[in-house]
Amino acid sequence: MSQNVRVLAARSCFDVVDQGMSLSEVLPKSQALLDNALDKALLQEICFGVMRYLPQLEAVCNQLMSKPLVKQLRPLQFLLYVGIYQLKFMRIPDHAAISETVEAARELKGQSLTKLINGVLRNVQRQPALFDFDNAPDAVQHNHPGWLITKLRQAYPNQWQQILLANQQKAPLWLRVNSNKLSPTDYAAALTRAGIEYSRPIADLPAAIKLTQAQDVTSLPGYAEGWFSVQDAAAQYAAYLLQVDNHHRVLDACCAPGGKTCHILELAPDAELTALDKEPKRLVRVHDNLFRLGLKANVIAADAAVPDNWWQGKLFDRILLDVPCSAIGVIRRHPDIRWLRKKADIAPLCELQQRILQQCWQLLAPGGILLYATCSILPDENGAQIATFLQQNSDARLDELPQHTTQENGWQLLPGEHDMDGFFYARLLKIATNSETT
Ligand SMILES: C[S@@+](CC[C@H](N)C(=O)[O-])C[C@H]1O[C@@H](n2cnc3c(N)ncnc32)[C@H](O)[C@@H]1O
Repeated sequence: MSQNVRVLAARSCFDVVDQGMSLSEVLPKSQALLDNALDKALLQEICFGVMRYLPQLEAVCNQLMSKPLVKQLRPLQFLLYVGIYQLKFMRIPDHAAISETVEAARELKGQSLTKLINGVLRNVQRQPALFDFDNAPDAVQHNHPGWLITKLRQAYPNQWQQILLANQQKAPLWLRVNSNKLSPTDYAAALTRAGIEYSRPIADLPAAIKLTQAQDVTSLPGYAEGWFSVQDAAAQYAAYLLQVDNHHRVLDACCAPGGKTCHILELAPDAELTALDKEPKRLVRVHDNLFRLGLKANVIAADAAVPDNWWQGKLFDRILLDVPCSAIGVIRRHPDIRWLRKKADIAPLCELQQRILQQCWQLLAPGGILLYATCSILPDENGAQIATFLQQNSDARLDELPQHTTQENGWQLLPGEHDMDGFFYARLLKIATNSETT
């Protein structure tokens, strides 16, 4: 039997915020307990919404309750957020939102709290001023943790508010047409025939198609045939910037789930590509994607920062380092990231990124290209990494891309720019040293 959507939403949000699990881990398990697609979509919308507005939902509760529910009652505190989110941000009729939430409280063993929950929700319904946060602390006004707001403010004194606002938006569904199988124009025609609205708004990304409305991708034309992949437009720049030819030996050192690996091979199917990732479990998705799209790579589970354990001794012509990062650039797509990521996570991540970069640089042939990429917008993980690296490696030169100047040490895309995710790219060229040229 299908379970109660609000109960699942409250439990899922509790698992993320209090237990530190990611929504992409928790949500599919909760959705599997629901019978129909509408309920699954409703569950997702509520969980994403609670993540997006958590500080304001907490602040409203604080105004209406003497203290938050604690210990074994914590899931019921999240149920209150679920109820308030529906009343404030969704088009569910108020009476249904309230009665369904109170019913869910019973299922969460909150029989004795149904009066309280009903009372809080009725107050929210009656008092719109509870959501007046003009004079509230930044964290509540902007629905982000204070440490992150401070960092973004320092890095982007003129754009930080715009970035925070972009993080509150729903991310669009971008597709990348597999040009190995059919042209983007032919795929666009197939979408039109299927009555699916789309646009192709980015001139220098020919295979990028933005759907006007999100939908189940498995029901789009050509899913099983491998005609397209789901990939944000910002991530679609990687394969082009890497400039791979069919005769190149390529390393994709942090490859899972394989979005960029597959794009590289779509553009250069005969390139000899080694796809590496430290997490064997994540490599299953790489194999699946390669299979669905009809592509081939040498897939290895190994640590990119320790090449002695896996490198076969032949230099690579091209290296993609899509390094592990804070993912602060993709908060609109993964709204829970802002609560899962802690300030203390950033320094160890930067240390790992620099280690991977320094080690993989040794594997690049003179004249070769290394593309450093993150889905972060924090300068510590991006431009500052490249500055440090360039200081320490005289055989490296930062290539100026059409999109940026070398002064910025790379190309920083901010979330929401052309409706894309936040992303960073730096293209490094390996200069042939004198001893190699003579
Ligand atoms: C940003 S994701 C890569 C996304 C991928 N390039 C794509 O486009 O689908 C970063 C990946 O780095 C992997 N990773 C983390 N530390 C690593 C290491 N030391 N060596 C290799 N891979 C690592 C993670 O498991 C994760 O899959």
